[in-house]
Amino acid sequence: MRSKSITFRLTLFFSTASTAVLLVVGTLIGTLVEAHFEEQDLTGLNAKLELVRYTLTKARAPADLAAVPQSLANALVGHHDLSVAVVGSDRKLLFKSSGAIFPTPLLEARLSEDSSRPAKPVVWERDGHAYRGIAAAAVTGIAGQPPLTVVVAINIDHHQMFMEAFRKSLWLAITASIALTALLGWIAARRGLAPVRELARLTHGISASRLGERLPPESVPTELVDLAIAFNGMLARLEDSFRRLSDFSSDLAHELRTPISNLMTQTQVAISKARSADQYREVLYSNLEEYERLARMIADMLFLAKADNGLMVPSSEMADLAAEARELFGFYEAFAEEHGVGLVLAGAGVVPGDRLMIRRALSNLLSNAIRHTPRDGSVKVLIDQRKSGETQLTVGNPGEGIEPEHLPRLFDRFYRVDRSRQKASSDGAGLGLAITKSIVDAHKGTIQALSSNGSTRFVITFPAAGAEL
Ligand SMILES: Nc1ncnc2c1ncn2[C@@H]1O[C@H](COP(=O)(O)OP(=O)(O)OP(=O)(O)O)[C@@H](O)[C@H]1O
Ligand SMILES: [Mg+2]
Repeated sequence: MRSKSITFRLTLFFSTASTAVLLVVGTLIGTLVEAHFEEQDLTGLNAKLELVRYTLTKARAPADLAAVPQSLANALVGHHDLSVAVVGSDRKLLFKSSGAIFPTPLLEARLSEDSSRPAKPVVWERDGHAYRGIAAAAVTGIAGQPPLTVVVAINIDHHQMFMEAFRKSLWLAITASIALTALLGWIAARRGLAPVRELARLTHGISASRLGERLPPESVPTELVDLAIAFNGMLARLEDSFRRLSDFSSDLAHELRTPISNLMTQTQVAISKARSADQYREVLYSNLEEYERLARMIADMLFLAKADNGLMVPSSEMADLAAEARELFGFYEAFAEEHGVGLVLAGAGVVPGDRLMIRRALSNLLSNAIRHTPRDGSVKVLIDQRKSGETQLTVGNPGEGIEPEHLPRLFDRFYRVDRSRQKASSDGAGLGLAITKSIVDAHKGTIQALSSNGSTRFVITFPAAGAEL
């Protein structure tokens, strides 16, 4: 399943985060404003409560109580939104401002414990109007009279209307803000990802013929620098492989052209006039040599092609490197003697792998070494079984050595150091080291070419015996 687009994810994240924040802020603002109104109402109610209490304390005798309603009505003139009721201890209504309707529980509130402190304010609704009221005990100036209950209420319609409108606007603003942040988040995410699209555009333009192009790491955002560098690295490797591959094809054509044109010339010369049977035989022998060279080259190339495709699977027997070297010394004895070169073996080691393939790799190194050793020099094969389990096989010889610039390309197919000498019949096709390397690779080993101070060494490192092939 394809993972969700980054723009979508970022937008979702932005809007979820802003929704959460705005909801919290919105609820907080609503609650604070409401609390402010409640406090304002209570301040007003408490002031009126004090006024009623004061009026009541001034009643010194039961007769004075009769005058209380009148003096309260006078005191409340002009306060249309305020309602007051005074209830006696016998639940008889002593005073009630006109038109006021109180909920019964409030009227019957008996504040026995702390008579001076008003009870919790109560909000109620009657006939489409909302009220907030408090009830408290009040003592009169008459000795022995139980406290009365005073209820003060205020019409809070305008507060409620304001709160309703305020809440509506607040939530509307919050909804709009959420939509806006989602939109802005989307725009920001798209703009933020523009460099990625630019990278994709640049990448589209890269083809086999334009592998030399690179993404400019200095012009991409910091987060993408690693990607650009990795991508450039990949391009460099591809370019290198591609170059080697195309070099290989042109080399291949060249390599085949020389022997075939030799064959053609010899044959043309041979048939240009009548010749003796011996002369024909000589031409055929010479042709046979060319055919053998071609056949060897084709077999080598087939080997490399198979190795490239992972078809060269080494059998997992044990190869005794010293025994293989000794056998090869026997094989190369005549060749070495012809060049006046000695062969020396030191050390011993057994590695898991394919005996025939390892012999072939060693044989290629030996034939090269003998050919490049000056007369009276000697080729040394050194086998070193390391404590770490690795085994090193070194083939070294004195000689002119190899210039450092050739070392990295030595294992390339058809690569020869001295190209001018490539047509000399004693020289090979330049496939020997490539084959050696592919054999070492198949054994999960490494090969290194070192050349300095007139001596050249090829070092093969085989992995520890436990390592999987
Ligand atoms: N021991 C060595 N000393 C100096 N140069 C070497 C040595 N071994 C290899 N070379 C150089 O490396 C080149 C490549 O070697 P490689 O074995 O791949 O090809 P070749 O020997 O020319 O041909 P082939 O092995 O296919 O017959 C050689 O042409 C040679 O110039
Ligand atoms: Mg060779």
